[in-house]
Amino acid sequence: MCGISAYIGNNNAVDFLIQGLSKLEYRGYDSAGITILNHENQFVTTKKQGKLVNLMEALKESKQVGYMGIGHTRWATHGVPCDENSHPHCNKNNTISLVHNGIIENYSILKEELIKDGYEFLSMTDSEVIVHLLDKYDNGNMLETINHVIPKLEGSYALCIMVASDKDCMYVVKKDSPIVLACDANASYVASDIPAILDYSKNVYFMDDYQIARVEKGKITFYDLEQNIIIKEPTFIAYDNQTAQMDGYESFMLKEIYEQPFALQETLRGRIVENKIFFKELKDLDKKVKEFQRVYIVGCGTAYHAGLSIVDIMEKDLQIPVSCTVASEFRYNDPIINQHTLAIFISQSGETADTLAALKLAKSKGATTLSIVNVLSSSIARTSDYTTYTCANLEIAVASTKAYTTQIATLLLLSKYMYQEKTNQLIDNQLLTELQEIPTILKTVIKDSDIFKNYAKKVIQYHYAFFLGRGLDFPTAMEGALKLKEISYIHASSYIAGELKHGSIALIEKTSPVIALALQPNIIKKTISNIQETIARGGDVILITTKPNKVEGTYATYYLPEVHPSLMPIVAAIPMQFIAYHASKLKGYDVDKPRNLAKSVTVE
Ligand code: AGP
Repeated sequence: MCGISAYIGNNNAVDFLIQGLSKLEYRGYDSAGITILNHENQFVTTKKQGKLVNLMEALKESKQVGYMGIGHTRWATHGVPCDENSHPHCNKNNTISLVHNGIIENYSILKEELIKDGYEFLSMTDSEVIVHLLDKYDNGNMLETINHVIPKLEGSYALCIMVASDKDCMYVVKKDSPIVLACDANASYVASDIPAILDYSKNVYFMDDYQIARVEKGKITFYDLEQNIIIKEPTFIAYDNQTAQMDGYESFMLKEIYEQPFALQETLRGRIVENKIFFKELKDLDKKVKEFQRVYIVGCGTAYHAGLSIVDIMEKDLQIPVSCTVASEFRYNDPIINQHTLAIFISQSGETADTLAALKLAKSKGATTLSIVNVLSSSIARTSDYTTYTCANLEIAVASTKAYTTQIATLLLLSKYMYQEKTNQLIDNQLLTELQEIPTILKTVIKDSDIFKNYAKKVIQYHYAFFLGRGLDFPTAMEGALKLKEISYIHASSYIAGELKHGSIALIEKTSPVIALALQPNIIKKTISNIQETIARGGDVILITTKPNKVEGTYATYYLPEVHPSLMPIVAAIPMQFIAYHASKLKGYDVDKPRNLAKSVTVE
């Protein structure tokens, strides 16, 4: 994971580096650091454990100035978060400095060899081996040296390298980790992601794997591993940076929960016209639909849960097998893929390494690939055959909220769209009408934040919580448990309500907090029986259902407005999000930046 920003130009590099890192902090906030080539031609490195603000404080005192620099915000993979393990890493003579995003999988073998050669390691990171390898093979021509070292590295990397002997340029090389570059007459800019550059340039270069860039002030030259020059055209980025403001909310997560009605309204905009669904950006997909013989849906975390909530619906709509898998499993499961396969990838960031790798695998095996992404021009969006965007806008909080509900809405629209194109039949009018009413319905549920806060007060008294559901309620239960775990650090498990009696019910004790969802009419009686079994064992059940369902002996019952069963996962997401949000706040945690996590997971 991690974020890289780098600058060479007429202004003080520190300013660009810090603004870049602040836009990239979503990639990790275990530590941050920069190296500047100062006016005495020396590398000065400042790095601090913790959030970017700690580095900014340190820089305020030391007042660094230089026209070239590299910066990094870290999500720890190898070695605990501490100053020593922070990037940049330098060689012993302080003549090479680099930042790395990715994982060097064979680092321990390389490290052993380097130690035998007399190299001393100051950190526990995998990244430090690269700087010593560059030092070891340095022949005075860094382009050649990089070419020599790259084949020795296994894993993923985006690297930005400065060499004291080459003070008018820096080098960038990548494999399986994103990096973007841009330049104007006064400077060149490098970053892990477009927003870090966008305020400076809208013409951005994307690099392919195993390409090297020599970055000078106002000039970038691209090479392949044989040192042939590659001519690249920049891509014009047709959008501006959205400013992430809390707008008076006490956290981004709270703001993003409240933004869901609008996000859904935007996601639905223009999609439904007189009972027909339109996906103009999906070009000729309508003609291909009849050829598909199976569908894979792939995502991670919350995106995976969104995928799960459409499997049964899409299977019925298309009358072909549909399955949903987490990306880290899909890519190593040798999935059966051919030219009749549609593979759908869901990702808020569009940069999740596992999802991107799964997409590349599906593509290489001949599948038609379609991605549902929130971040414009992200790697997953650019790599897929077809891309459609959720219109959730910037999602800052690590805990995904509005991306999730807009993903479910998009998946539902997509499933119905493919049904429409495959069968030439009209879609259930009732479903489409209610889908368009969802933004208004969400507003009424969001108003009940205080009720959900009371449930959170119960939940935080325990170290664990149960989430139960059947059918389409089960992905919602999984999402509720994930939300609670990631921001309140309470262990939460989701169970298929009907499975509980086959073992897990043994865990229920007197007053155990159980959040039970009973929202699917076709199975509601069965779900209620399972809930009663839980109450009989002493569990305190917070029941989320629709009127007039009733269960004797619950701790509390919350009635959601009744909507079409396929839409229930969207509506039921709100109580899940609020319970987790309030639990985290009541425990005094940083809701937006929970421990050990980052918004975008760009390593395997
Ligand atoms: C959700 O709250 C998580 N922070 C996480 O599970 C996330 O959904 C997952 O990492 C996938 O991210 P993506 O949608 O950006 O691919």
